[in-house]
Amino acid sequence: MRFAVLVSGSGSNLLALLEAERSGALAPAQIAVVVSNRPGVLALERAATFGKPAHVVDHRAYSDRLGFERALLDLLQLHQVEAVVLAGFMRVLTAQFTDRFPLRIVNTHPSLLPAFPGAHATADAVAHGVKVSGVTVHFVDATLDGGPIIAQRTVPVEDGDDATSLHRRIQRVEHQLLPEVVAQLARGQLLCEGRVVRQVHHDAQ
Ligand code: GAR
Repeated sequence: MRFAVLVSGSGSNLLALLEAERSGALAPAQIAVVVSNRPGVLALERAATFGKPAHVVDHRAYSDRLGFERALLDLLQLHQVEAVVLAGFMRVLTAQFTDRFPLRIVNTHPSLLPAFPGAHATADAVAHGVKVSGVTVHFVDATLDGGPIIAQRTVPVEDGDDATSLHRRIQRVEHQLLPEVVAQLARGQLLCEGRVVRQVHHDAQ
């Protein structure tokens, strides 16, 4: 299954996906293309290092979300993309985009959703004083961080944590979890009924 990875920043999750692909752990998922909405980010360099096509579709060049998304969709079509991973992609997608890939877009988010959606999840968790946070990998629909939850892992919040230290601890976990989920999706192992996602195993008979 051919995936696009959409990024906006440093791309540490992209790196985890690229390394998983190189080791064979991502199969049958293939990273077909990497797209950033911001020029000059480290994620683009990481993609190039692994020999992947890497493109910028700068959202600031479009007068509205729909134009930006149409440009993204055209690029993904060119690369015959069947599924999408949001790996630190910090733009909200509308139904125009998400309806093109039903149950074929996954996002990683640094909190235990539905707690702390949005762009400042770790800062919000620290400010709220929670003792446990974590990672959520979920299907993406047109709601903000609201699609069906595929997998979650807990991460403790430690005394003295700030948003950065908590985020660093969470990222170590998401770098494991995201490639696992991408491989499961590509293997057809994720079954979604309503909001509930189950992992099914196609055992040899
Ligand atoms: C990741 O930790 C991801 O969970 C988060 O951005 C970070 C990107 O890091 N995403 C969100 O907050 C989405 N709401 P990376 O560029 O190093 O992968």
